Amino acid sequence: MTGLDPAGPLFDEVPDLGDSRLSSGDATFVTCIYTDDTLGTIERNCDLNLFPRTPSSANCSVMDFLCRHSIVKSWFILRMMGSVTLSQREPPMSQLDSEIRGILETSLRKAVIILMYSKFALASFIVLYNMKTLIIRPLLESDYGQVFQLIKELSTSPGEQNIVKFNEKDFLFANPKKNSSSYFSGIVAIDKIDKIVGVLLYHTKYSTWEGEGPGIQINTFFVTECYRRRGVGYLLLQNICMSAEEKGQQISIPIRKHDVAGMEFFMKHHATNLTSTEGWLNYHLNKTAVENLLNFNDKKGKNVILRPAEAKDCNHIEKMIQDLNEFENIGDQDNKLDAKTLQRDGFQKTSPDFYSFVAELNDGENGLVKIVGYNLMFFEFNPIHGKLVHLEDIYVKEEHRGEGIGVKLFKQVARVLCSGQWLPRIYSRSA
Ligand SMILES: CC(C)(COP(=O)(O)OP(=O)(O)OC[C@H]1O[C@@H](n2cnc3c(N)ncnc32)[C@H](O)[C@@H]1OP(=O)(O)O)[C@@H](O)C(=O)NCCC(=O)NCCS
Repeated sequence: MTGLDPAGPLFDEVPDLGDSRLSSGDATFVTCIYTDDTLGTIERNCDLNLFPRTPSSANCSVMDFLCRHSIVKSWFILRMMGSVTLSQREPPMSQLDSEIRGILETSLRKAVIILMYSKFALASFIVLYNMKTLIIRPLLESDYGQVFQLIKELSTSPGEQNIVKFNEKDFLFANPKKNSSSYFSGIVAIDKIDKIVGVLLYHTKYSTWEGEGPGIQINTFFVTECYRRRGVGYLLLQNICMSAEEKGQQISIPIRKHDVAGMEFFMKHHATNLTSTEGWLNYHLNKTAVENLLNFNDKKGKNVILRPAEAKDCNHIEKMIQDLNEFENIGDQDNKLDAKTLQRDGFQKTSPDFYSFVAELNDGENGLVKIVGYNLMFFEFNPIHGKLVHLEDIYVKEEHRGEGIGVKLFKQVARVLCSGQWLPRIYSRSA
């Protein structure tokens, strides 16, 4: 670790200096670059203590300690670039090429002030500098092998043993080569030797909650261990935020309770924990639960048939979504997800954003057929569970509850997933 001026005069007033400022023991080998004895310190705190002479090329007058103080940043940059050898007494200013100056000078001016006070800020700055060599770009088919290996690394994280259930074949299946309707997309972070060091995979989710419509659900977010806490995760998230903002989409991510790094990361970036604030719970049906559901006796509701929803049903679906939101006390819905949007998202796209079935009740006596319930689902893919059907909504009109219509709608989801071997996942607010 190389740092600037773990110095005075303000540090002289800080109690417990040892913990706060940069000193040997903070890394395997710590180099401190000092400025002068006015703004700097004459103590030697690090493994290697450099007191560079102000270069004549800087034109600092003998009395100008601010000038001498600020010149040390050039040393710092060159040291980061590996251009300063320990035998050099004077930083060769000409080596600071214009590109580095342009990009770094402004942030460095700010950073240097922080750096003097905190070794942690120093570490962050080094990251920003190093990240200059990092490329963030969309996931390509040629990345699959590397990304798959990276995701396998996830299963060796503490508490995550054996959670990765899918294999490379599934990966290709979910993102078929010649088919535009892939179940996920992704972005990767690549270091200067073309190695993928971070990956963020996501799929489009369809939320009827608060009339959100299509949004982004991150299903895999992983940075290889030796690159963590160096800003790679932030760059990946920033990239996905830009694309979400352009499309007016929300971003969500499920995080496991023990995943401290994930929780801390998203809290740092002001994500809301919906389980705490809204009481959302996440239920999952495994293979056995699905088989049991398919065998569940649903003799009730004989006069009800289920059929795939059609564009003409969207007015009914819109009304039922509103009823469901009222039931869940979401209120103040103002009809954001209207029938027209539902028609566009579910029925006019080559790869629809959602699939839906409606329950039709045939009132035998007067021959009336009416829609009394619906379900709404979409497909997702993540490395923990592999292929999933996400049941976003299941709803039966109040006056027809208890007639076995709900279980029919639920069984239909199981049938859909069994036909394509997808597993259901249900998001529900706690009672
Ligand atoms: C979560 C993860 C993707 C973040 O990537 P990253 O490159 O380390 O992220 P950044 O460097 O941009 O941000 C680091 C911030 O994340 C949080 N964080 C990361 N690791 C942490 C840890 N072990 N303990 C506490 N907070 C941690 C902190 O807020 C940290 O900020 P700080 O260093 O200033 O304290 C990465 O830690 C990772 O791959 N973890 C394992 C997989 C995982 O948990 N994925 C998320 C759920 S799918």
